[in-house]
Amino acid sequence: MTALEHTRRLEHRSGRTRGPGAHGSGLFARLRAECARREYEASVLAFAASLKAVFREACTGIALCQYVHVAAGVTIRTPRVGEVRLGPPTSFTVELMAGQEPADFTKGENGARLAHTLGAHGLRVEPVAGRWVRIHLLDHDPLRDGFTLPSLSVASGIEPVIIGRTEDGLTLGHALTEPGHLGVQGQNGSGKTQLAEGILTQLAAAPDVLITGSDITGLLLGRPWDGTVHRPHQVTGTQDIAAHAALLEDLVAEMDRRLATIPPRQDKIAPDAVTPTKFVVLEEFPGLLRAADGLPRPKRGEGVPVGDRIRTAVLRLLSEGRKAAFRVLMLAQRFEATAVGGGYARDQFALRISFRVPADSLEMLHGVDARPLGQEHANAAPGVAYLSGLGRDCQRIRVPYLGDYGEYCDRIAAHGRRAHR
Ligand SMILES: Nc1ncnc2c1ncn2[C@@H]1O[C@H](COP(=O)(O)OP(=O)(O)OP(=O)(O)O)[C@@H](O)[C@H]1O
Ligand SMILES: [Mg+2]
Repeated sequence: MTALEHTRRLEHRSGRTRGPGAHGSGLFARLRAECARREYEASVLAFAASLKAVFREACTGIALCQYVHVAAGVTIRTPRVGEVRLGPPTSFTVELMAGQEPADFTKGENGARLAHTLGAHGLRVEPVAGRWVRIHLLDHDPLRDGFTLPSLSVASGIEPVIIGRTEDGLTLGHALTEPGHLGVQGQNGSGKTQLAEGILTQLAAAPDVLITGSDITGLLLGRPWDGTVHRPHQVTGTQDIAAHAALLEDLVAEMDRRLATIPPRQDKIAPDAVTPTKFVVLEEFPGLLRAADGLPRPKRGEGVPVGDRIRTAVLRLLSEGRKAAFRVLMLAQRFEATAVGGGYARDQFALRISFRVPADSLEMLHGVDARPLGQEHANAAPGVAYLSGLGRDCQRIRVPYLGDYGEYCDRIAAHGRRAHR
């Protein structure tokens, strides 16, 4: 036997031979491949069976099941699992039982409990057809990764501006002409200003929008807007708190003028370049009220305290402004009634957004439905928020990141509408 033949035989036995020259080796390779395929199929079937069993237990654990009384006792029925896809991400189809809705799997804490039992971070339910849904198991928070807001601006307040991305990866837009004021709350450094910056840069160029308002921090409004048509309608800083009250009262006067001149057979002002939507930004509004309330009170009969003037003006803008093309964006650490000018004022916000806040604050702004979400959201990362209102269920979103403050200034300088344009 030659050395080459000897080597071939050894290779043949150890199953390492390849290529057309190796007689018989193809058979071994095929057998090994077949074996591997069967092992793989068996493991897939075992995985699918264990997933179905755990899903059944999980459904029983969170009462997404039916108890059927039979002669032998009580049988538990759970939604039937159909096809399982390994993924990633792993997903499987489920047939809804009578009376069940797709949202039942994610309602309240159900989503988290189901997902955790199945070893996933979270889940997404996608209606398929008829009574079937597909449940996707997510191995990480879909809102974990941030996204950057492109440098764009809308040509009109009718066009939606980007305010976030949902857990399903959909981009969420909001048109300023939608009939609602925006209320945004969140603790220090949770992302409120970043959201406002994103909205404002997108609106800065629209000829039918005027960005006005009060900002005691002087960072969101004020200096970045120098040279734009918006700047004269903004009051900043804490040097002259009465100037904030005066601006808000001027806005109320303008609102009254508009309301008095609504054309016949119309119930609201249609904004245009002559009568633009006035977007009233109230950055750190509770801080403004605190500063105003800290001023010496005028003597009896010598005028109204500045804090009360601000409260009255904002309440009027909130309750009557929609028809007159006024939209308010209020930012506060917490939407406590006393901090934002009363419970009635708080109720006027049709679109509500909460960044990281304590559980009770979340419920305060979004209602009792948000209670189960509170504990987890109390530790939310900056830029992750809950949004509800204007026909939308309470949903978790990731707000886009604009960049550092210099980027905000550059975008306002680039897009901010100027008089000669
Ligand atoms: N959407 C986002 N994506 C990624 N990071 C973000 C996002 N929003 C905010 N951040 C980070 O959090 C920081 C604080 O954000 P921001 O200034 O908007 O908070 P804030 O709620 O306005 O806080 P404060 O109450 O102190 O004014 C930002 O500098 C940024 O690093
Ligand atoms: Mg801020």
